[in-house]
Amino acid sequence: MPPETASQTAPPTTPAAFGTVFCDWMTVARYRGGQWSGPAVEAVAPLALHPGAHVLHYGSSCFEGLKAFRMPDGQVRLFRADRHAERLRRSAELLCLPLPPVEVVEGMIREAVAANRDDTPHPPGALYLRPTLIGTEANIGAAGAPPAEALLYILASPVGDYFSGGGRPLTVLIEEHGMRSTPGFGQAKTGGNYASAMRHVVAARREHGADQVLFCPGGDVQETGASNFLLIDDRRVLTKPLDGSFLHGVTRDSILTLAADLGYEVVERDFSVDELLAWTAFGEAALSGTAAVLTGVGELIRDGRRHSVGDGSIGPNTRRLRQALTDIQAGAAEDRFGWLS
Ligand code: COI
Repeated sequence: MPPETASQTAPPTTPAAFGTVFCDWMTVARYRGGQWSGPAVEAVAPLALHPGAHVLHYGSSCFEGLKAFRMPDGQVRLFRADRHAERLRRSAELLCLPLPPVEVVEGMIREAVAANRDDTPHPPGALYLRPTLIGTEANIGAAGAPPAEALLYILASPVGDYFSGGGRPLTVLIEEHGMRSTPGFGQAKTGGNYASAMRHVVAARREHGADQVLFCPGGDVQETGASNFLLIDDRRVLTKPLDGSFLHGVTRDSILTLAADLGYEVVERDFSVDELLAWTAFGEAALSGTAAVLTGVGELIRDGRRHSVGDGSIGPNTRRLRQALTDIQAGAAEDRFGWLS
């Protein structure tokens, strides 16, 4: 069990590279015989998995990414945990994994925060929570059957910026041939979709020095390998409408809500790469996600040709929307939408 008294050491303020440091405690629940047992707080340690575990062969795994923030009064509060718990269930449904009840997931997330609260950095840092659900049944004959046993655990990690370089504008490569996910499966937050994006992102980094890849199969602008994608100008925010092809971002939803509240027209419709490039000749583009927050794009690459987004710096509207979000997350602005808990 974690120590019951708060440690006297100050929380870390400059976390290492995103996702490389883990807190000491995780919450764990196991599914067997049609029931969830636990949850319990356990020390983070290697998992004992049978080499024939379903997840290792058939990819029965999904996860979430959400953050808890240290408030000015020292409390640590979660951002939109209910939405993340619901989305984990949606991913589990698509993967035929046993569905943990929303209140179990939320309760486990809260316990993971409580166990690791002393490791929560001050804003702009945060405690990143990684709920993970995997099929553990040892059965390599069960490609066509859901795993009868599963494990749900919540890891915690103190994080800072996802993209290195302190808020610099990103370079994004437009990929019109490769796919991030199979059609209809993009909505699932599952390792397979990240694995499918990875070789494109690795090649874009190596060959073009790009930070990310924007997947636009057949010219339809979808999302990047790690986040949703938005176009922004002085009056509007344009992004793809929710469908099965991409992840339904909680940060996307938060930014659209804040944009509407600030008087922007929010437009959710499909758009093409040609329209994207016409927009970004003068307007702004940004990536949104729990890890990415809202990060501006300075340059797009299509077919080897580089296109500056506006003047190449992060635009004022992207900064304004990001600030509106991070002010709420840090407890510096009123939580008008009831997102913190
Ligand atoms: C997140 O934003 O939470 C994600 O899961 C993206 C991941 C590439 C860090």
